[in-house]
Amino acid sequence: MAAVNVWDYERLAEQKLDANAHAYFAGGAGDEVTLRDNLAAFERRKLRPRVLVDVSSVSTATTILGTDVALPILIAPLALQRMAHPDGELATARAAAAAGTIMCLSTAATARPAEVAAAAPGAPRWFQVYVLADRSETEDLIEEAVANEFSALILTVDTPFLGRRERDIRIDFQVPEHLTVSGDIFGGRFDTGLSWRDLEWLGGYGLPVVVKGILTAEDARLACEHGAAGVVVSNHGGRQLDGVSSSLDALEEVVEAVDGRAEVLLDGGVRRGTDVLKALALGARAVLVGRAMVWGLAVAGEEGVLDVLRLLQQEVELALGLLGCASPADVSRAHVQ
Ligand SMILES: Cc1cc2nc3c(=O)[nH]c(=O)nc-3n(C[C@H](O)[C@H](O)[C@H](O)COP(=O)(O)O)c2cc1C
Repeated sequence: MAAVNVWDYERLAEQKLDANAHAYFAGGAGDEVTLRDNLAAFERRKLRPRVLVDVSSVSTATTILGTDVALPILIAPLALQRMAHPDGELATARAAAAAGTIMCLSTAATARPAEVAAAAPGAPRWFQVYVLADRSETEDLIEEAVANEFSALILTVDTPFLGRRERDIRIDFQVPEHLTVSGDIFGGRFDTGLSWRDLEWLGGYGLPVVVKGILTAEDARLACEHGAAGVVVSNHGGRQLDGVSSSLDALEEVVEAVDGRAEVLLDGGVRRGTDVLKALALGARAVLVGRAMVWGLAVAGEEGVLDVLRLLQQEVELALGLLGCASPADVSRAHVQ
């Protein structure tokens, strides 16, 4: 079966991955209410197309923190990519470069920042920071990212502890022994004392800081006050606190609170081009994809990730045209109910 959409990739990946890896990539926390609601929220929102708009030339291109991207979709930071495919993060980096977008490299990656940079020279990339209990381990990784031309630091703030993921518990999930993780989070060694003051420490590296894992107006305001260049509305793909709002439902209050002071991104549940447009209409500048990307990686490595990105880009392009928008910048609040 040739995959014609992300759902096809999800099914093919389930057939391909072993049970240990599949549980880790697919699962969410607790009863997975938030995991499911991330998807359901996109179904609840209806688009409001406008007709007889000149769509003779439609472009999916936009900019994120001043970087040109060919589509309003970035690659979310996702741990342990060599568990999906032997080429892991290197394949993802090459596919992101080929598609013309930004890859976020996880602290818990199975490739070092320098290796990822060498795999896709010149491509835009961000480094995702988990602050580990041993701060020097985190600092070493950030320094390697800075030295290798990563252009932003994306600090994940919803993970002082790993969520309770029962699929992993049932299967006794283990990181495969042959893999080396850059920043080993699986022993639960996070800095649980991390606070807003640490944003200023992170800003000291001279790169824009993006705060990932914001779900409230209150925290969105604090992120702006502490100098964030961007925020990601995210519940970590339903893997952290179960019972929180879907990302899409939290988006509007964050956009209002940020009030143009930072760029607002969203992740969680994006599987379709129309999902991307709903997020844009509610005020996101772009979205990130986690599982959609990793299903492509599992099925066909670099080619699979690139195909997923191309399919999503084609869906975005078609949906823009049918919505009556010539570019992402034309999508407004009035385009969604
Ligand atoms: C298997 C898996 C591993 C993840 N690892 C990380 C990580 O290392 N760092 C991080 O900030 N977020 C991590 N995330 C969260 C993603 O960055 C993103 O928020 C989430 O996948 C978005 O939801 P989606 O999978 O529905 O696209 C992970 C998500 C998944 C599914």
